[in-house]
Amino acid sequence: MSFATRMMSVTLFLQIIAAFLFITATASSPPSGFTVDLIHRRTNSSSPRRSNTDDDQLRSSPYADIFFETSEYLMKLKIGTPPVEIEAVVDTGSEVIWTQCVPCLNCYKQRNPIFDPSKSSTYKEKTCNISDPSCDYTLIYGDQSYSKGRLATETVSIQSTSGHSYEMPETVIGCSHNSSGFITTASGIVGLSWRSLSLIFQMGKSMDGAFSYCFSPERTSKISFGSNPIVAGDGTVSTPMFFRKEKPGFYYLNLDAVSVGKTRIETLGTPFHAVDGNMVIDSGTTLTYLPASYCSLVREAVEKVVTAERVTYSDFDTLCYKTNAMDIFPVITMHFSVGADLVFDRNNTYVALNGEAICLAIMCAPMTPIAEEALFGNRAQNNFLVGYDHSSLKVSFKPTDCGVTQDKPRDSTSAASFLQFNIKFVLFIFVLSLIRL
Ligand SMILES: *[C@@H]1O[C@H](CO)[C@@H](O)[C@H](O)[C@H]1NC(C)=O
Ligand SMILES: *[C@@H]1O[C@H](CO)[C@@H](O)[C@H](O)[C@H]1NC(C)=O
Ligand SMILES: *[C@@H]1O[C@H](CO)[C@@H](O)[C@H](O)[C@H]1NC(C)=O
Ligand SMILES: *[C@@H]1O[C@H](CO)[C@@H](O)[C@H](O)[C@H]1NC(C)=O
Repeated sequence: MSFATRMMSVTLFLQIIAAFLFITATASSPPSGFTVDLIHRRTNSSSPRRSNTDDDQLRSSPYADIFFETSEYLMKLKIGTPPVEIEAVVDTGSEVIWTQCVPCLNCYKQRNPIFDPSKSSTYKEKTCNISDPSCDYTLIYGDQSYSKGRLATETVSIQSTSGHSYEMPETVIGCSHNSSGFITTASGIVGLSWRSLSLIFQMGKSMDGAFSYCFSPERTSKISFGSNPIVAGDGTVSTPMFFRKEKPGFYYLNLDAVSVGKTRIETLGTPFHAVDGNMVIDSGTTLTYLPASYCSLVREAVEKVVTAERVTYSDFDTLCYKTNAMDIFPVITMHFSVGADLVFDRNNTYVALNGEAICLAIMCAPMTPIAEEALFGNRAQNNFLVGYDHSSLKVSFKPTDCGVTQDKPRDSTSAASFLQFNIKFVLFIFVLSLIRL
């Protein structure tokens, strides 16, 4: 299919999905008692964090190594008994923790071996019945990729600063048997939105819904859980996080304005303007997306500054120039409420393609399949320590060199991979319930 055709089908597809979204939002959430019960049961097990004194808790917090791959940040975690390592996309734009499982009806190619639940003594598939109605799930993401499979409970573990692993027995995970559209070698996705099936939610009260990560463009870095790794110090800015009833679980920030060089473009007076959240911070989406009407203002401001020759790539309406001089591009600043200004490095907001062109990495509709949604993607978050705190309802950013250990340098971006959009913002989640009975 040509890209244009694909986009048309995506658009059509999205209209259908949009029609479903409101119905499924409620249909999909498992009864709250279900999650509470799980957390309650876990608090009686013997995982290390509960035997901790408060003092221990302060010194020890769970974390995972993360690294960049193709267009995503992957974290390492272990599942099953005996534990098997998987690598999964860090995704604040969705909730389910899933991994590809055998038998594979339709699997994409991943680096690690595919998880075999029959070899784990703690794997317990959920069955559909009236008292516990969730079993099968379907997830569809903004770029039309999907994962379908069975919900199960399983032991999930990650590293901990205490040296012991941090174990989460009976964590609800998705065992994916049919997935497609992924441009990654990861085994699956770790959902981190604020909903009952996400990793952070299932960690329970002791974590306060708090976590932080630092995305290094080319080196290994970390994601840490709990309020211990709070983001503070020189250069830190914080902005309120908002939750929307109609799109539950997503972390909305409120973008007041964008500055292109010295030109400040207010959202006020555009349909994009809001006071209670208009942009989802989504670690699973690569580029940044703004709704068309407002985005065109930002783009025009860039066009006014850059005088290099324009180039176009296929059907895409990206703003690209034939140059390799990054410094001719204006610095972009995002102004979040209240007074949280993020001044981006040019590498956050522009991408150099094969040394032959430089493109704006902020995308406008109609290219975006999520035309009404503004997404703050992972590239723009590079080299910021980003902290989410549910108790204060704030997201904080601190400019940081995120690389910890030297790793292989990032390959120069090819036009093909840049133009292949990657949006792990979940559009649709459906947990098959009583309908099945
Ligand atoms: C909780 O832990 C206690 C002490 O270890 C044990 O006797 C009890 O059976 C546990 N309860 C459950 C529901 O596992
Ligand atoms: C996988 O799911 C897709 C989308 O629902 C469906 O069209 C396809 O038939 C499924 N593949 C298999 C092997 O079940
Ligand atoms: C319902 O399913 C759960 C596990 O999925 C099981 O523990 C429970 O016993 C089942 N209840 C009935 C009434 O079958
Ligand atoms: C931006 O990216 C280029 C190419 O990858 C790199 O050489 C440069 O050091 C980066 N600049 C910063 C400030 O990270």
